[in-house]
Amino acid sequence: MMGTVYQAIPDFADHLEHELGTWQDKWGSLYYAVERCQAPFWQQNIWLEPFRLEFDSISQAAAALRDIQRNWAPVLHTQFRRAALIEGQLPPISRKPRPFPWQVPEVPIGAWSLLDAHTLIASPRCSSPFPAGIIEFEEDKFGPPSRAYLKLWEALVRCGKWPQSGEKCLDAGASPGGWTWALARLGAEVTAVDRAPLEDRILAMPGVTALKHDAFTLAPEDIGPMDWVFSDVICYPPRLYEWIQKWLASGLCQNFVCTIKMQGEADYETTRAFASVPGSVVTHLYHNKHELTWYRLNRASK
Ligand SMILES: C[S@@+](CC[C@H](N)C(=O)[O-])C[C@H]1O[C@@H](n2cnc3c(N)ncnc32)[C@H](O)[C@@H]1O
Repeated sequence: MMGTVYQAIPDFADHLEHELGTWQDKWGSLYYAVERCQAPFWQQNIWLEPFRLEFDSISQAAAALRDIQRNWAPVLHTQFRRAALIEGQLPPISRKPRPFPWQVPEVPIGAWSLLDAHTLIASPRCSSPFPAGIIEFEEDKFGPPSRAYLKLWEALVRCGKWPQSGEKCLDAGASPGGWTWALARLGAEVTAVDRAPLEDRILAMPGVTALKHDAFTLAPEDIGPMDWVFSDVICYPPRLYEWIQKWLASGLCQNFVCTIKMQGEADYETTRAFASVPGSVVTHLYHNKHELTWYRLNRASK
């Protein structure tokens, strides 16, 4: 089977279709394209080495997967009972919520599906390090004032790197304080900028300094060197891009994690501009809504 399988994000299949343009087959949330296109941003997982297998028995299908590797995640749209029988003959994969921080094990997680009772498609290599692109965390229901910290945790787990104790972090668009809470818990020194106030108990956390200001009218030189710049500001993507360009040009920070929030229509042009920053990744996290996450790290430092 030549080509690639793209797994759509629930609610945003139209964005994937826009990016793909054409495809040869569609099975549930899976789009099969013979021509490998420039990797789309709006996908939950890309199946990089898909193959098709005609099989007679459950045990034959399970053995074929097991012979390749240990870890396989199903992505199903039909044949649920038959798939459950195959899954029962595969080594279990853990779907338990993860703590944060969590280092993703470097083992491949494949994906598979059934097209009918005797046809399986699968890929041992996928773009996401999580089973079927899904990660859940052990949530803190009391500490953070919003659930926005989950996408920051996911981004940092994807980066394989997070702020160390004492590192200086700028958190733009910080209110009510979910990201600041997550960063302060790591022991970072957080400058939290927002036009709206943060919750008092977040302001009281050690290492947190709040600045009530428009983040974009603060130049990097006004703030000074930072180990990390974060942004979860609600704004049109070009506004964020312009501000980030200033930070990149200033050389005052090497690590960036920003949410690109779509206002109405998805902004593919600015997304591509972010992706073209050398060393960047733009992806849709499992915890993202109508938004993408851009990160760019200094890989040389811990
Ligand atoms: C999605 S919320 C941030 C949630 C936050 N990251 C958390 O974890 O709780 C977006 C924030 O962007 C702020 N915002 C919008 N425009 C801004 C600007 N120009 N400068 C600073 N903050 C801005 C809003 O006040 C809002 O609090």
